[in-house]
Amino acid sequence: MATFSSLTRPISESSLIALKLGDQSPNSLGFPKHFVFSRHGFCSFPPGLVHIQLKPSLAIKNSYQTESSTESTVLSSEVPILSCSEAIERLRTSRETYKSKEQYLAMYSSVFGGITTDPSAMVIPMDDHMVHRGHGVFDTAAIMDGYLYELDQHLDRFIRSATTAKIKLPFDRDSIRRILIQTVSASKCRKGSLRYWLSAGPGDFQLSSSGCHQSALYAIVIQNQSPPDYSGIRVVTSSIPIKPPQFAVMKSVNYLPNALSKMEAEENGAYAAIWLDFDGFIAEGPNMNVAFVTKEKELLMPEFDKILSGCTARRALVLAESLVREGILQNIRVDKVTVEEGKNAVEMMLIGSGVLIRSVVQWDEQVIGDGKEGPVSKALLKLILEDMKLGPASVRVPVPY
Ligand SMILES: Cc1ncc(COP(=O)(O)O)c(C=O)c1O
Repeated sequence: MATFSSLTRPISESSLIALKLGDQSPNSLGFPKHFVFSRHGFCSFPPGLVHIQLKPSLAIKNSYQTESSTESTVLSSEVPILSCSEAIERLRTSRETYKSKEQYLAMYSSVFGGITTDPSAMVIPMDDHMVHRGHGVFDTAAIMDGYLYELDQHLDRFIRSATTAKIKLPFDRDSIRRILIQTVSASKCRKGSLRYWLSAGPGDFQLSSSGCHQSALYAIVIQNQSPPDYSGIRVVTSSIPIKPPQFAVMKSVNYLPNALSKMEAEENGAYAAIWLDFDGFIAEGPNMNVAFVTKEKELLMPEFDKILSGCTARRALVLAESLVREGILQNIRVDKVTVEEGKNAVEMMLIGSGVLIRSVVQWDEQVIGDGKEGPVSKALLKLILEDMKLGPASVRVPVPY
């Protein structure tokens, strides 16, 4: 077996491939004692390297490992030194070993200055400040029937977020817009989503971005295979603190509170956790806004001054005017919303580009309305879906394929 000292060359030139499939049992392979094997782990190496699954009785841990850390630790063998093409090949193989509901169809990177459709090349530099300092902002847009929905509204927010995060645009707005549309065109995706990031850029591992050579733009086109689900859901109140307004109003990549809040919801059998602001008013969900319908048939939405100004929520406010004209709603109000008002509403809904409109049927222990998807939520979902398919040019940007 190769030793560390023999691993200064790419594996294709070294003897590490000595770990061949054979009749050895794992403990006869002579791994150093301080190496750790997963209890359940199945370590998948590219072809030519061994796959080993150890039984619990074979688990070995070093003095630094606690009992629980061995639960998720996968077999470590000596670490190979890879050439660039070997690393890329392993990236490709590693992608093939896990199944995702999402397919990545095209990626643009200003670092390589082009679009790739090969998922294994869809990577960003390790010294990019978005990676190691969270100095980046992002936004999205849905792709519906070959049109980008609300691209300009999302792009405006993207640029506002970048300005707040002191990230200089690498290109002007029109060029960014053109790059995004071209990336969707190259992906051939007609129904999916576009995500894009502006980063302080690669350069070094310092805190300040002053050493970054140039800000970076990345974009990716994602196709999601899961069918949409618009059924009513449960939410809980988040115990994870909301971000202070200065950070909550921008869409930065610092989504750790959002991710932990979503996980808290899932751990409690709920779909999302709702944030209250520092004064106790209803704020938003981890990646969606919230709205209510009062007993007086008023559509009530929290003010946007301390939360993200959701493009879908703002569009829903416009579309809801037709429900007022039809008498389904009496009024539309954007205001401070107390928890009492929210929990006593006849309808509650989540609103965002991901969920579109999703009825909330229970918040904590409180059943909302009659515990079923409400008529206003259903009507608003219909209006948004119609708007995505047939809305005006201001919300639908055609992609030239
Ligand atoms: C924190 C937060 N609030 C609200 C939203 C909804 O915004 P939009 O409708 O623009 O997707 C999002 C979207 O990701 C979000 O992350």
